[in-house]
Amino acid sequence: MMKRIGIITSGGDAPGMNAAIRGAARAAIGQGTEVVGFYHGYEGIMNNEILEFESRTVGGIIAQGGTILRTARSKEFRTHEGRAKAVENLRANGVEGLVVIGGDGSLTGAKFLHEDFDYPVMGVPGSIDNDINGTDFSIGFDTAVNGALDAIDRVRDTAYSHERVFVVEVMGRHNGFIALEAGLAGGAEAVIIPEIPFSLLEICDDLRKMHEKGKRSSLIVVAEGALRAVDVRDFIEKHAGYEARYLVLGHMQRGGSPTAFDRVLALQLGAHAANRLISGHRGEMVGVDGTKLVSHPLSYVLSTERQIDPEKLLLVEVMAR
Ligand code: F6P
Repeated sequence: MMKRIGIITSGGDAPGMNAAIRGAARAAIGQGTEVVGFYHGYEGIMNNEILEFESRTVGGIIAQGGTILRTARSKEFRTHEGRAKAVENLRANGVEGLVVIGGDGSLTGAKFLHEDFDYPVMGVPGSIDNDINGTDFSIGFDTAVNGALDAIDRVRDTAYSHERVFVVEVMGRHNGFIALEAGLAGGAEAVIIPEIPFSLLEICDDLRKMHEKGKRSSLIVVAEGALRAVDVRDFIEKHAGYEARYLVLGHMQRGGSPTAFDRVLALQLGAHAANRLISGHRGEMVGVDGTKLVSHPLSYVLSTERQIDPEKLLLVEVMAR
């Protein structure tokens, strides 16, 4: 049983991170373990930006987007010296284990603490990208998808009225999980993602065929990691000859109050992580498998990339007919 644990949020923020902090803090405090937070992720550990928690510290934050602990992408922590300094500070503050809420970069940092310094860590998947192996969902994905979907629904109204093609760019540097989910839910005619090869000429052909069948407006969702929306718009105007507009949703997708799904997921994962850490488990990331809470070694989680379901992309095509 640990006497004192720490919590950080690290990397890109995600709606629901606050609920995860609340879940971890209250689960720990409830069993008599002291909790501290560090501001600005790993950066704050190296700089000793510490905040002593009591139960009230996490009061009223469940509905707030962002993270009360702030976040950062730390360059110094990528070095062995930086990590050594962080472990030294954690130990000097009597912090016996750390809950790391973040995406793959942050979890990689946690894995180094575990493997190189034998420091107890427990990861919580927090990323709008949903690209983390070992969990069906990461915190923030559902909110980001629903935010994108709201924008897509609005854009469809004006696309329909003006009989235009609209290209909506969503986040996802290396993957198309948000694009695919929001595209399917929004009835997009095409979804372009980095994982699966695509041809803009074929998309133009499809647009023409749909036009001939009477479909006068179309919506294309593109993941930022595949192409920029402006380039897709230009290509369509040039090669298909239709009037097109584009919209980049950007960081809007990372903000806002978390959905009920993300809040409950975050509370469960936060509490599960704290409980496991306090009871002696280490070097893992908690997650969900269906409705079941699970936990996997970080080495497994980070060994492969989470794969997109190609059937879902096919479904986009079938639905566009
Ligand atoms: O990893 C989350 C994410 O929002 C990606 O989807 C996006 O490409 C990236 O972060 C943007 O990072 P930044 O906020 O540093 O511009």
